[in-house]
Amino acid sequence: MSFRAPATDCTASTASTASTDYVEDVSPGSGTLPPRARYASSDAKSLSLNGKWRFRLSPTADAEDDVFAEPGYDAGGWAEVSVPGHWVLQGHGSPIYTNHLYPFPVDPPRVPTENPTGDHLRVFDLPADWPADGDAVLRFDGVESCARVWLNGTRLGEFKGSRLPHEFAVGHLLEPSGNVLAVRVHQWSAGSYLEDQDQWWLPGVFRDVTLLHRPAGCVLDFFVHASYDHLTGEGTLRVDSDVDGRVTVPELGVDAATGASVTVPVEPWSAEVPRLYDGVLATSGERVPLRIGFRTVAVEDGLIKVNGRPVLFKGVNRHEWHPDTGRALDAETMREDVLLMKRHNVNAVRTSHYPPHPAFLDLCDAYGLWVIDECDLETHGFTGQGWRDNPVDDDRWTPALLDRAARMVERDKNHPSVVIWSLGNEAGTGRGLTAMAEWIHGRDPSRPVHYEGDATCRDTDVYARMYASHEEVERIGRGLDGGPRKRRELPFLLCEYAHAMGNGPGGLADYQRLFEAHDRLQGGFVWEWIDHGIRHPELGFAYGGDFGEELHDGNFVCDGLVFPDRTPSPGLVEYKKVIEPVRIEGRGARGGAGGTVRITNRYDFAGLSALAFAWSYQVDGEIVASGPLPVPALAAGEAAEVKLPEPPRRPGEMHATVRAVLAVDTAWAPRGHVVAWGQFPLTGRRVPSLTPTAAPVPGDRRVTLGPASFDARTGALLTVGDIEVTGGLRLDVWRATTDNDDGAPWQSDTRHGVLWRTLGLHRAQHRLDAVEAGGDALTVRTRVAPAGCEIGLATVHRWTSDGERLRLTVSVRPEGDWRVPLPRLGVRFGLPAATVDRVRWFGGGPGEAYPDTKCASLLGRWEATLEELHTPYVRPQENGARADVRWVEIGGLRIEGDPEFFLTARRWTTEQLDAARHRGDLVPGDTVWVHLDHGQHGIGSQSCGPGPLPRYFLWPRPTEFSFVLSRVR
Ligand code: GAL
Repeated sequence: MSFRAPATDCTASTASTASTDYVEDVSPGSGTLPPRARYASSDAKSLSLNGKWRFRLSPTADAEDDVFAEPGYDAGGWAEVSVPGHWVLQGHGSPIYTNHLYPFPVDPPRVPTENPTGDHLRVFDLPADWPADGDAVLRFDGVESCARVWLNGTRLGEFKGSRLPHEFAVGHLLEPSGNVLAVRVHQWSAGSYLEDQDQWWLPGVFRDVTLLHRPAGCVLDFFVHASYDHLTGEGTLRVDSDVDGRVTVPELGVDAATGASVTVPVEPWSAEVPRLYDGVLATSGERVPLRIGFRTVAVEDGLIKVNGRPVLFKGVNRHEWHPDTGRALDAETMREDVLLMKRHNVNAVRTSHYPPHPAFLDLCDAYGLWVIDECDLETHGFTGQGWRDNPVDDDRWTPALLDRAARMVERDKNHPSVVIWSLGNEAGTGRGLTAMAEWIHGRDPSRPVHYEGDATCRDTDVYARMYASHEEVERIGRGLDGGPRKRRELPFLLCEYAHAMGNGPGGLADYQRLFEAHDRLQGGFVWEWIDHGIRHPELGFAYGGDFGEELHDGNFVCDGLVFPDRTPSPGLVEYKKVIEPVRIEGRGARGGAGGTVRITNRYDFAGLSALAFAWSYQVDGEIVASGPLPVPALAAGEAAEVKLPEPPRRPGEMHATVRAVLAVDTAWAPRGHVVAWGQFPLTGRRVPSLTPTAAPVPGDRRVTLGPASFDARTGALLTVGDIEVTGGLRLDVWRATTDNDDGAPWQSDTRHGVLWRTLGLHRAQHRLDAVEAGGDALTVRTRVAPAGCEIGLATVHRWTSDGERLRLTVSVRPEGDWRVPLPRLGVRFGLPAATVDRVRWFGGGPGEAYPDTKCASLLGRWEATLEELHTPYVRPQENGARADVRWVEIGGLRIEGDPEFFLTARRWTTEQLDAARHRGDLVPGDTVWVHLDHGQHGIGSQSCGPGPLPRYFLWPRPTEFSFVLSRVR
């Protein structure tokens, strides 16, 4: 390998006269240099060519001739775009979102004549200190989907493979000044057939463009082999290099020739303790800094082990996304992703579905994340024709597939964080994939190979699935899933699970329990990290269809744990709790005694020395005592019972909370950051009681009862003291269906959102049967039922009062043959918006929680504005419920629940929420709608995976629940 230009015809040819055949050519390209290791810096000069480029958009690949690439061409009249960037996000053309449909006819390798083509032009001078001798390389880190490149009028070649690097030797063409770099980028190419990932189609030069000086004797390709022997505690380092040189690691006293092995005692690298050693690879012409992490990955005894220990992956699938710049990410955004992951206990990333910007892997090395590095390959759109003509099973495409595998492996092989290679995603099966796997196994036997799409595991070292149900995952964990022998012996990963679209995912804790119970289950990767919404002035964030696409998949592109602007959604907060690395469980602490707490170190490697523990006691949600908790230095996997101090004797409902926080500042969070917590009750709750003393007093059109007045005809609550209540305080069973309620179209049988709407629960009618004022109660009887069927809910609202407070008891009796669970069961009413400022409650918080998304809900006293109570899902839907609420104070009303309830308050009705398509559709009205729900249906993750587990279903059954209402004192 050298940096001399490859001897292909095209390097000699000049601009113009060229055909566009290369666009539909299945080959990976021509004229580029062989792939090689990527390194972040060296002492060789480099020149970033990022910045403003001249830009011209043409409707077809051949609309313009090539003269723009000739020196002297006047592009003064062209537009400008930023590189890195996508032209469709810079005012030229529009983005398109499809999940797996190709947005063009499937006729490989042909692409439409209408093929938006962006000519990019940049004139640059070499810096004054650019060395006169040596070679130079022009590097493109990412261009979608196909490019032809010229420098100073000489055509360098063409390439495909959008999220992979491509380099050209250009030393012989460079001039001290006035260099003309011309890049023609086609949106569609044969390569597009290999890049059918579920994401926006975003053409452009979206990663860095760099000119690299290549001095005589410079580094070419090199492979850092840094293994760790957990039995001896020694690391073995060998750097294979195309150019001989020396490798030094001062901290380890290493000074060795390239190719030589050195074994020394080291601290190993892991995602938990990402120990890196600084070294240098020096050849006669260049010094390249190395960051070396010693670790050994192996599949042994049916388990993925790192440094001799099985690892539990608590992962996410990460697409690259920024709401303004698409897949063109700056360094700060990448860092933010890593920091957010670390702060939320995430320990692994699958780079779905392409190698990320290389700087992201530097961050994973430094901060500590296990990485499945996935190749830029997906041919999902062939599923529609039973995978016929699938490029991965057609030898003509194999060179392109091997080129992609090599570009990934060669670029990323020196990252300790990369522990598994993935062939790609959803590309069916075929010889091309086998060829990729064979090549990768040969080139890098030190890492296992992953690919989910082949259930036989013919080419892979791990068995992976996506969206398998809890039940199936359990079967796999118990080894009862059958399948081919090879597969039965492999460790298992859920490479995608828990579809985080909109509200959810539900059921995370139930998966985690399985992962922890069965060794074979080595964890999973939530789908996915971030919503790919595009910032939009009116809509909030745009999704599929918002740009007039012919085919699109709507908001299926917004299915992340963080919103497009990286605000964590409740799903991430829940995930953080579910995967916390320390388990804190209360033991034997009932009846007011302090008892003990069991602390389990669930790290795979780390001890607990980085953490400090603290206890506190709360009475009715208020902290009454607290202090530090000494916890023994538990090694990974160990547990201990720790005694808590005696709690103070106080009346009220008492809880103990124990937190594990960072003891000192780390690279990713400050001291005091909460890593894990546990909370448990010490005494029970006293439910509110009310002895009826007042009687209903009929008046002119109104009935009064204690502090309240009711409509005499309808029984609707009108006032509590001077507080006006609207909406009648009626039974409510409807919620604005979540993406997970609605489910994915291919799951036809049990999509509750669809069943509910078909049944008509969104338009239930309220029939008034009786208003009875007798004895000490006002009783209102209604029947709530949708039109067109015989089922219904016979409902009795019984109001009593002690003169000051009101008690409402709601009894619900289902009638008819109910075949579906209810979305929610509770009451709703309105309060004048002007009277509601902040909401205070004692219950679960601070964030939203539903029956199967409740782990992160911490009991306490909370206060929030209505804005804070609303979770702004990109497509509005049911959100914001606070669970286990004992009491709430809102708009001057205090409401206590018997039993605890779900609280929701919002500035719009459920119907308005249900009708909204974007954030911008939600406009506050003059009423605040308050929901007090006895029950909510689970959330699940049926927008792509299984629905809620049956134990989270809200079945209609005879039910009674009460609230005590009073004026806030
Ligand atoms: C998977 C696929 C992902 C994404 C997800 C649904 O099948 O691998 O790319 O489409 O479903 O959001």
